[in-house]
Amino acid sequence: MSYSVKTIEWSDDGVVMIDQTKLPTEEIYNTYKEVEEVAQAIKDLVIRGAPAIGVAAAMGIALGVKNLTSKENLDQEFERICKIIHDTRPTAQNLFWAIQRMREVYQGHRDKSLHEIQAALRDESIQVLEEDIDINRRMGMHGQALLAEQGNVLTHCNAGALATGGYGTALGVVRSAVEQGKTLRVFADETRPFLQGARLTAWEMMKENIPCTLITDNMAGYFMQQGQVQAVIVGTDRTVANGDVANKIGTYSVAVLAKAHNIPFYVAAPTSTIDLSIPTGKDIPIEQRTAEEVTVIGNRQMAPDGIDAAYPAFDVTPHHLVTAIITEEGVARDPYTESLAEMVARAKARRTAKA
Ligand code: MRU
Repeated sequence: MSYSVKTIEWSDDGVVMIDQTKLPTEEIYNTYKEVEEVAQAIKDLVIRGAPAIGVAAAMGIALGVKNLTSKENLDQEFERICKIIHDTRPTAQNLFWAIQRMREVYQGHRDKSLHEIQAALRDESIQVLEEDIDINRRMGMHGQALLAEQGNVLTHCNAGALATGGYGTALGVVRSAVEQGKTLRVFADETRPFLQGARLTAWEMMKENIPCTLITDNMAGYFMQQGQVQAVIVGTDRTVANGDVANKIGTYSVAVLAKAHNIPFYVAAPTSTIDLSIPTGKDIPIEQRTAEEVTVIGNRQMAPDGIDAAYPAFDVTPHHLVTAIITEEGVARDPYTESLAEMVARAKARRTAKA
């Protein structure tokens, strides 16, 4: 499959990212030279999707340290840089996972020369990117086995190459199934208000000639009722110990609809998105974005001046609505408290064996 969109990469000049706010009409790559610029890009959804946010976080920290000119107050400087990245978006677990990973590398190298510390952090951030692509391919193989030889798969938001280092989580499963010769059509929810489905998922699917039908969010029930959806597959920003799943606002509604129509509801979750420190979904921090992102589309005002509008960016799907959670280590099923812990332990063992 000849698909080669690059979401993010490290270069000698800085961190290069495709501007996802401009897609699908413009494919613009910008180079970000300061950690503050990377943080702003995360806040503005120039780069978005939990695993891609994790890669941007790691590269942002590496960039911040690269720009230091001496080891003076290095510990404080490192923590200042981490905080700039930390204070961007609260829901995606990968952000905090990446900060912790970079912190461990920093701790292991802090007594070395500044040059060596900078190189170690740069290399680690590149490894976070490369590992993410590998993880998505493995997750794709596990997940594709759950899909029939042919049928329609509904997805919400964008959990594709653009949301990750490459290949995608939920769309990685679709890609993998297609690579195995399965005949699938993707039903893409447009995903109001940022339109990740319409602007990004539809764009990715068209680039690769994977059949795709774009629908507005409120059409999902209709197509399920018509028997036109055989499976739902979504990504996640944070999945917690009991299997409750935070994902793009509207995911919960899709899960309820899937249950009502007896359609399997799958979640593709790399272990970097699994947060075992939180027992249930009620404690997941949900980002609240500005109401203007609901009332204005493009430059067009869609609601009266002064209207009260709300924009919780994510919702939580309770685990009893989730048929299975696909990870790079295998497929987790209820009871998730046990199966997810097992997947995380396997991922940890794999990393330890590699080190
Ligand atoms: O606000 P976004 O676009 O960052 O939200 C993204 C999602 O909700 C994705 O489904 C999730 O991060 C998984 S991406 C592989």
